Amino acid sequence: MGEFLEQFFIFVGVLVCLVYLVKCVKFAKCIFLHFWKVLPRSFAQSMGQWAVITGAGDGIGKAYSFELAKRGLNIVLISRTLEKLQAIATEIEQTTGSSVKIIQADFTKDDIYEYIKENLKGLEIGILVNNVGMLPNLLPSYFLNAPDEIQSLIHCNMTSVIKMTQLILKHMESRGKGLILNISSGAALFPCPLYSLYSASKAFVRTFSKALQAEYKAKGIIIQVLTPYAISTSMTKYLNPNMITKTANEFVKESMNYITAGDENCGCLAHEILVTYNFLLSWNNEDRCAASPSRLN
Ligand SMILES: NC(=O)c1ccc[n+]([C@@H]2O[C@H](COP(=O)([O-])OP(=O)(O)OC[C@H]3O[C@@H](n4cnc5c(N)ncnc54)[C@H](OP(=O)(O)O)[C@@H]3O)[C@@H](O)[C@H]2O)c1
Repeated sequence: MGEFLEQFFIFVGVLVCLVYLVKCVKFAKCIFLHFWKVLPRSFAQSMGQWAVITGAGDGIGKAYSFELAKRGLNIVLISRTLEKLQAIATEIEQTTGSSVKIIQADFTKDDIYEYIKENLKGLEIGILVNNVGMLPNLLPSYFLNAPDEIQSLIHCNMTSVIKMTQLILKHMESRGKGLILNISSGAALFPCPLYSLYSASKAFVRTFSKALQAEYKAKGIIIQVLTPYAISTSMTKYLNPNMITKTANEFVKESMNYITAGDENCGCLAHEILVTYNFLLSWNNEDRCAASPSRLN
């Protein structure tokens, strides 16, 4: 019995070491890719002629639109405000020479996908960035006190990812290549009290994305989920950028280095360090919550 227990504890010890080792290797890979940019700039263009970006009128989506246009792709911009989209389209066309197509759509609705499909017809889409998302309460708030936008949030944060992927993945599969970037959030990594619905919707995106990558990897399709912490955009009321809080442009530029770094990353080294730190801290925390309401009050 004593010998069995000894073997058992050695086995558990080895397992724990393995988990930490995998984390360390993943972290080391991010550091490597941060300093040695191994991905050629032409990689994005090699996926196909067009990139489709949801929530492209501002913040992270707008930054991806410019970055991918600079890398030689034509861009499809999708969001609600036509004037913002027209201004971005003109600027992209003038500064990069890429073509831009605009689709005005509201992702809080679920009857927009036939219209989007019609507008995407005939385009060779190499990249899809599922970026659109909403955060109903920037300040921490109990579920019952938060604005009642449940159905809108589900459509905007979750349905949009599933339906846009369904529309575009089909064509990627038949071409045997493509890249899908799903913008989740650091709030997906642990249950986040006082942001429960947002955190859960982003956890959905993370799980869906990772499962889908396992299904389609062998078919030549890269599906990656990004889980950043704070980025200075209108969603975060333009928090002051610093070493941790990136601007949308900084974040997007850096995230492009990690496209081939596996099915999930934070998109920037600073946030990857925070996640690794949180992981080490939470190892003994049985409920693995980002914070408890009593601590946030
Ligand atoms: N900012 C952060 O700190 C942070 C951190 C982690 C993850 N994220 C995630 O990153 C993504 C982008 O965030 P962001 O900070 O860039 O947001 P943002 O600055 O608020 O921009 C959101 C964009 O989406 C569009 N949009 C919003 N609701 C829409 C709807 N119902 N239908 C169509 N378009 C809509 C907005 O344009 P219109 O209003 O003109 O439609 C805007 O172009 C989100 O999924 C967010 O959850 C953000």
